[in-house]
Amino acid sequence: MKPWITLDTTTLPDGGTLSLQQRDQELVLRANGVELMTSRAHGSEDALGELGTAPIAARKRPRVLIGGLGMGFTLRAALDGLGPDADVIISELVEEVVAWNRGPLAHLAGNPLDDPRVTLLQGDVTRHIARQETRLDAILLDVDNGPEALTAQANEGLYGEKGLERAFHALTPGGILGVWSVSDDQAFSRRLKKARFQVKRHSVRAAGERGRRHLVWIARRP
Ligand SMILES: C[S@@+](CC[C@H](N)C(=O)[O-])C[C@H]1O[C@@H](n2cnc3c(N)ncnc32)[C@H](O)[C@@H]1O
Repeated sequence: MKPWITLDTTTLPDGGTLSLQQRDQELVLRANGVELMTSRAHGSEDALGELGTAPIAARKRPRVLIGGLGMGFTLRAALDGLGPDADVIISELVEEVVAWNRGPLAHLAGNPLDDPRVTLLQGDVTRHIARQETRLDAILLDVDNGPEALTAQANEGLYGEKGLERAFHALTPGGILGVWSVSDDQAFSRRLKKARFQVKRHSVRAAGERGRRHLVWIARRP
């Protein structure tokens, strides 16, 4: 098997490493050696964008916050599900990921950063959620491999009781919190319900009809 070629590497806020690697046509992001995102399979990342925007797409000027950018598939799916008056804020912690999305990753999801509906906020999505009092129609989170910190230890704060409370208050009534995960996490479902969200769990394929299944929570603020 051909070896992976490292195209670029950067240091994460906690001192770990994020690398962009390529083998033939496949591109991969790895955080501390663990695969964070691959271009090979993005069905479930697309599903987060589709399922998370469908309930609010008919609203006037819907505002959607997505964290993080990765390879741009969730952002692309959200843009495709929303109308021309939507306002889509993409928050990405790592400056180099943005640069890679303007370079070797740009073509993967059809250059979503160039869409005029997109505002890029470089930085921690946690901070952006905390600033948005009842102003967002959807918050879509795919920053780790599930509701557990991987890219940065501080991400733990997104998935606990306080983080869910902040997300609840940032949303408009009927607004959606969508969260991607590599696998199910029943404790997280319970925390969402405790935070007063109406919760639906979607088991979605990573790729094709036979691929691995991942989980997307679509939690609605009543
Ligand atoms: C799994 S990838 C996202 C994949 C993306 N859904 C896609 O469709 O390609 C996770 C991304 O979240 C970013 N990230 C991690 N923690 C973050 C945070 N606290 N705020 C914003 N972005 C973050 C990472 O740098 C990485 O680009």
